[in-house]
Amino acid sequence: MKPVLDGTVALVTGASSGIGSATATALAAQGAAVALAARRADRLEALAGDIKDQGGTALVLECDVTDEQQATGAVERTVAELGRLDTLINNAGVMLLGPVAGAPLPEWQQMVQLNVLGLLYCAHAALPHLLRAAQDGPRQVADMVNISSVAGRAARNGSGVYALTKFGVGAFSESLRQEVTRRYVRVCLVEPGATATELASHNRPEVLESIRNQFGQRMEAADIADAITYIVTRPRHVAINEMLIRPTEQER
Ligand SMILES: NC(=O)c1ccc[n+]([C@@H]2O[C@H](COP(=O)([O-])OP(=O)(O)OC[C@H]3O[C@@H](n4cnc5c(N)ncnc54)[C@H](OP(=O)(O)O)[C@@H]3O)[C@@H](O)[C@H]2O)c1
Repeated sequence: MKPVLDGTVALVTGASSGIGSATATALAAQGAAVALAARRADRLEALAGDIKDQGGTALVLECDVTDEQQATGAVERTVAELGRLDTLINNAGVMLLGPVAGAPLPEWQQMVQLNVLGLLYCAHAALPHLLRAAQDGPRQVADMVNISSVAGRAARNGSGVYALTKFGVGAFSESLRQEVTRRYVRVCLVEPGATATELASHNRPEVLESIRNQFGQRMEAADIADAITYIVTRPRHVAINEMLIRPTEQER
């Protein structure tokens, strides 16, 4: 039997680590050719090598998606070199926590530029291709999966601007879903809880110290990749709109 995503092309942003890397691997295993976007090209090359060793197809796209031209260029190169675009995994993100009072403004700017604008640039550039794929693609359906967070559902003390960006991702995703779902572009919002990745490591030492005990049990990136794979492999008439996934022991 042919793998479900055979003949399709997926672009994964933030593919150089964590959830993005695991998702690219999982989608390639389902037969998708995968375009891998992030800034660390060496990581992407290693991942592409692994995928090719497994018989898959991978394209390395070294880019900073906070730069509109680079984000658009990543989408255009995917289509030019892999022939089409059926699936966008809008995953690249950063989580810089801590009190609002006295927060370094560059941290807020980075989160808004990546979690909001980077995601929007990729969505904007990808949408015409996803609409085309839904019309004439091998599966007659296309997917945009936007990665939010539990923090996109509930704001907590110390995660104000991160939550702001993820609430925004939720609002945008639902509006876009209503706009394109009858044209068979499915838009899904994924809201992970604590997952063992590099995400928290970018925080200042004093913030890291204060959140040290905040996260107990963690999921693996592969657990979220598994959920994303489920979403994008549903039959054409089934759209998973939203998925909230926590480690079993995570209460809030
Ligand atoms: N881990 C969790 O507990 C958790 C929970 C809820 C939601 N999430 C969400 O899951 C998504 C993935 O995060 P993760 O946990 O897998 O963290 P991660 O391991 O830190 O991965 C983040 C990815 O984003 C990429 N990235 C950062 N800045 C970029 C830029 N300017 N342009 C392109 N790519 C960029 C990074 O690659 P480069 O540095 O190479 O560019 C990396 O591949 C994020 O949206 C995050 O908010 C994670």
